[in-house]
Amino acid sequence: MTAADATTPGARVPGSVGVIGGGTMGAGIAHVFAAAGARVAVVESSPDAATDARRRIENSLGRAAERGKLPATVGMVLDRITVLADIAHLPAQLDLLVEAVPERAELKTSVLSAAEGAIGPDTVLASNTSSLSISELGAVLESPSRFLGMHFFNPVPASKLVEIVLARETDGGVRDRVVAWVRGLGKTDVVVRDSPGFATSRLGVMLGLEAIRMLDEGVADAEAIDTAMELGYRHPMGPLRSTDLVGLDVRLAIAEYLHRTLGERFAPPQLLRDKVARGELGKKTGQGFYRW
Ligand SMILES: NC(=O)c1ccc[n+]([C@@H]2O[C@H](COP(=O)([O-])OP(=O)(O)OC[C@H]3O[C@@H](n4cnc5c(N)ncnc54)[C@H](O)[C@@H]3O)[C@@H](O)[C@H]2O)c1
Repeated sequence: MTAADATTPGARVPGSVGVIGGGTMGAGIAHVFAAAGARVAVVESSPDAATDARRRIENSLGRAAERGKLPATVGMVLDRITVLADIAHLPAQLDLLVEAVPERAELKTSVLSAAEGAIGPDTVLASNTSSLSISELGAVLESPSRFLGMHFFNPVPASKLVEIVLARETDGGVRDRVVAWVRGLGKTDVVVRDSPGFATSRLGVMLGLEAIRMLDEGVADAEAIDTAMELGYRHPMGPLRSTDLVGLDVRLAIAEYLHRTLGERFAPPQLLRDKVARGELGKKTGQGFYRW
């Protein structure tokens, strides 16, 4: 499947958006929708987590304002955002609700079920999962036809792409609304069929795993492997540096899932397992394939 067909309506911004989970991704998603003019409600798991989420959103908006990338003042955008500590307090009249809690299937399905109970019948429900099956997550819903994957990238405000993942059950009208909203954010959509890792994670993880195997075999050092892809293939960032930014633990979890669902070619290299076991998780711990 490719980008949306000619019947797709033009770019539009939803009036009201909910985001469940105000972490790295949820904060960025709240930022971009509010900056585009939507009212945004972010749900966190506790009052303390809600305070942290609000600080993350403020920091994200502050960074955008410093770089001249915010179309209004930080205060004006923040006024459109509320952060809640209970999913039951979500406004029912939302155009879109995006789930962005950690990548654990059982957590996502329980959150999606609770979300469906809190929203009206016309709200589009999306997951920001980077690899899990949209059909399987949607199986817990009473109306899976309103559900799809809306895969944003990190950092959300600066990333141009949103990968839209359609399950067999996803309604075509829902797809068209989401495509229009992605374009309303000034981002580019690619529409893909639900399959493990979609298009982006499947290719990105494969490249990262092969780079780790090459490092382990002594083909070249990390800097050389990354430079080869950056200058030779014009990738903006080499696969090992990119793994450090994403987090080695996150990459390992996705590779294990792709190994189970797509087969041996995604078997995680021992070097990746060893580094995760030692707590060398990349930039967030100061040590991955590079020292940060
Ligand atoms: N970080 C990335 O680079 C990236 C990129 C694309 C997609 N994703 C996907 O986005 C999702 C979120 O990832 P992240 O990096 O933002 O994680 P994160 O850990 O930074 O944030 C998750 C947030 O969810 C909150 N949360 C946990 N349980 C909750 C609940 N029951 N109700 C409400 N909030 C709850 C946590 O408090 C936390 O703030 C994952 O599915 C991940 O695979 C991540």
